[in-house]
Amino acid sequence: MGNNNDEAELIQCIYTSAESINFSRDQLLSLLERARVVNSGLGITGMLLYEDGSFFQVLEGPPNAVRSLYKKISADKRHRRITKIIEEPVERRLLPDWSMGYSSVTREELKEVDGLNDFFQKGKCYADLDECRAKKLLDAFKDGRWRASLG
Ligand SMILES: Cc1cc2nc3c(=O)[nH]c(=O)nc-3n(C[C@H](O)[C@H](O)[C@H](O)COP(=O)(O)O)c2cc1C
Repeated sequence: MGNNNDEAELIQCIYTSAESINFSRDQLLSLLERARVVNSGLGITGMLLYEDGSFFQVLEGPPNAVRSLYKKISADKRHRRITKIIEEPVERRLLPDWSMGYSSVTREELKEVDGLNDFFQKGKCYADLDECRAKKLLDAFKDGRWRASLG
């Protein structure tokens, strides 16, 4: 295909969690700072959203690296009710420019995303997302709908 993003083998893993400790801005910042260093070293890119104790995270990169990082993150006691929504091979990275992009998105902003309006109207959180809605959220982020609002 001649795309210079082509890599041997890549997977994408998307998970949500709920009932985390109440992360302060500083706690999120230091989590992100560390994640960005570690992820760069592992060839992992992705994005993280946080709202009111609920996370949405995308990890993409070499299969073994992504799987072992997910294992580590899912064992992290600071969040709970972790659900892997998607783990599948991808041809290229959707988020090649982010070692871990972050945005704190408000409920009002979430309601503006096509295909998600009904969902977030009903008071649901990230942990209630299904595969199709998770992809819509990822697309909205990828298209630059929300600027990184931390760090
Ligand atoms: C919501 C959430 C997302 C996280 N994302 C990452 C990540 O992308 N990369 C990373 O290295 N650690 C991430 N962590 C931190 C890991 O869970 C774990 O604390 C860290 O890998 C421990 O590193 P250490 O064993 O070197 O202390 C995340 C933690 C939480 C709660």
